[in-house]
Amino acid sequence: MRRDALLGILAERGLLLSPDALEYMEKEVEGEDEVMEIIGSIENPGILGLDGVRSLFEKKIRNEGTERTVDTGTIKSLRMLPEIKATEPVVLMDVTGNSRSTAKVESFVLTFQDRYRKIREIFRGDIRVRGLVDMEALSSPRMEGNTVSVIGMVTEFHDTPRGTVALIEDPTGSARVFFRKENLPEKLILDEVIAVQGRAVRPKGKNGISMFADSIYWPDIPIHTPNRSEEKVSAAFISDIHIGSNTFLRDSWESFIKWLASDDPDARRIAYLVMAGDVVDGVGIYPHQEEDLEISDIYEQYEALAKYVENIPERIKVIISPGNHDFVRPAEPQPAFGEDITSLFSSSNVEFIGSPSLIELSGVKVLVYHGTSINDFISNLPGVSYEDPTKALRRMLKSRIIAPLYGASTPLAPEQTDYMVIDEIPDIFVTGHVHSYARFNYRGVGVINASTWQSQTEYQKMNNFKPIPGVVTVAELDTGRIFDKRFYSE
Ligand SMILES: [Fe+2]
Repeated sequence: MRRDALLGILAERGLLLSPDALEYMEKEVEGEDEVMEIIGSIENPGILGLDGVRSLFEKKIRNEGTERTVDTGTIKSLRMLPEIKATEPVVLMDVTGNSRSTAKVESFVLTFQDRYRKIREIFRGDIRVRGLVDMEALSSPRMEGNTVSVIGMVTEFHDTPRGTVALIEDPTGSARVFFRKENLPEKLILDEVIAVQGRAVRPKGKNGISMFADSIYWPDIPIHTPNRSEEKVSAAFISDIHIGSNTFLRDSWESFIKWLASDDPDARRIAYLVMAGDVVDGVGIYPHQEEDLEISDIYEQYEALAKYVENIPERIKVIISPGNHDFVRPAEPQPAFGEDITSLFSSSNVEFIGSPSLIELSGVKVLVYHGTSINDFISNLPGVSYEDPTKALRRMLKSRIIAPLYGASTPLAPEQTDYMVIDEIPDIFVTGHVHSYARFNYRGVGVINASTWQSQTEYQKMNNFKPIPGVVTVAELDTGRIFDKRFYSE
């Protein structure tokens, strides 16, 4: 693995390597996933020597060895036992049945207050945030010249030739903060809650600066040691099936459904199938959509999906979450489908959840979110595109907010609780929506942008976007191994 990439990953986790250990890692380790497998279990930041690195690497190799033997045993026993029995999914966070949205302006105030409270709580005990004061105290003349920290929501910002001026608010007031270019490593995003450390100054004039920032901190997630299942089971992740569209990839889809019931050892241990929204193409989602539809009745679209689900082995729990094309309120957090849709599914192995939802599959926590807000990251964060949404997904985890921007393209419902805050750290974070495909590891969390089952649409052709369809991501919940199976070839 290249030295600069390796150093980047290590720095992100607060780890340093001795020169000989670094050389060893460079030679022996390939790719970010493998680095994470090796260093993922280290809980405290610090310096690692060659002996430490070598023993972690050897332990990993040994584990792989045992996994392989154990796996063969599992496969044999699976062949003898016709079905594996998976633990029922547990829903830990979901707006379904809990919506307290009144669609009044005051409710947005409540959502923001809840967001602020939750992120401030995440910052509590964060050693990076020193000398914390509130905005009211910051404005006191006695503060002038002191180095302090504030935690606030970014409510406006603009770039100047020398840096960025941002207005940051907390419940006690607001401050205008100036960041020199070199003190702002990533672009700000409105409505995020951040911590800023800097020198307090007495504001002059109406729009005066209250603080010159030295550092900015996002709440981020600490290096995470993922939970593992005690059962030898896997979860499969897909998204954006778009049944009903005339660009739905029926052949690829049907070969996937057949594979689920096949004897392939990777298929036999699948106990959960998560669909992260846009399971049908819907109706009236965009102008003249009827011209692109093969099934123009919304209920018939879901009935077609229900028939496929009947062909999925009963041992697999199918978990369906909505997206912006589905027949449920578009404002996020989206609740699970109503009874008019769920009653079309006769299989007993289907569970409907909202988006976002935090669920537990055999002890492993999975955050499921369709990904509609990726559009806002594309417009507001350099380096994010439909082809490559990875920076958006990283930023969601770093800012601990799935959809920060109110009043942008993601419709958000004013709930009294901010469901968009990631308070509990997931082991796996899955999204879809952009019809691309990505999987990577961020500070121990397995991040997946699940693939679609729709080929290039006219709209995508016009925008020169090539989707990556027919990829199924499989996560072995007991070993943490994440890989993919491809069902589409051109
Ligand atoms: Fe979508």
